[in-house]
Amino acid sequence: MSIADAVKTADVVILGIWFETIKEFVVAHRASLVGKIIVDPSNPIAPDGKGGFTKIIPAYQSSGQIIARLLPEGAELVKAFGTVSAGSLETAARRKPEPAVLFYATDYPEAGRVVAKLITASGFAPVNVGGVDQSVRIEAFGELSEYGKLGRLVTSKEAEAIISRAPGLQLKSA
Ligand SMILES: NC(=O)c1ccc[n+]([C@@H]2O[C@H](COP(=O)([O-])OP(=O)(O)OC[C@H]3O[C@@H](n4cnc5c(N)ncnc54)[C@H](OP(=O)(O)O)[C@@H]3O)[C@@H](O)[C@H]2O)c1
Repeated sequence: MSIADAVKTADVVILGIWFETIKEFVVAHRASLVGKIIVDPSNPIAPDGKGGFTKIIPAYQSSGQIIARLLPEGAELVKAFGTVSAGSLETAARRKPEPAVLFYATDYPEAGRVVAKLITASGFAPVNVGGVDQSVRIEAFGELSEYGKLGRLVTSKEAEAIISRAPGLQLKSA
């Protein structure tokens, strides 16, 4: 199946591509994205030339909000699946005794519930941190990212405790 046909056929489109490519992709496939749930896992980062990564947009901005603004009306963005490393996605799925958390953010509660089910099916515990304006917290360098101040995987209970101490952040029910 071509990418164009896959997008047309899907209910949920998970954009497992880099931020700059996502920006081009959502413009190229704009009409087909109407009525779909769009999952953005991107971290707006690039190698810093010293073996690390640097953020390629201003610190206060998120790729989630930028992508949300590029989507057509009727496409519902969920920021998800990018809060942990690829390695952790592989090794920590179905972790026992407590599953590891994948945070997500969205302005669309029903789309959020669908993605929460996908997170659960992937062997992680979904935790909603609020609307897409909270994406910066779960993207790289954010306080709830394995690539950020959090720096590790957490259980739902740990996530709850961290969120209750974070200014301006409230745990949302799925
Ligand atoms: N890797 C991580 O630890 C990690 C963690 C959190 C979030 N993320 C996010 O996940 C996303 C993907 O990262 P990744 O590490 O999986 O990258 P990756 O290994 O470089 O894979 C990128 C994929 O995008 C495909 N691609 C490139 N241009 C495309 C286009 N125009 N249309 C369709 N597909 C295209 C590539 O296909 P070809 O190989 O055929 O070119 C490749 O399969 C990024 O936004 C990243 O920030 C990654």
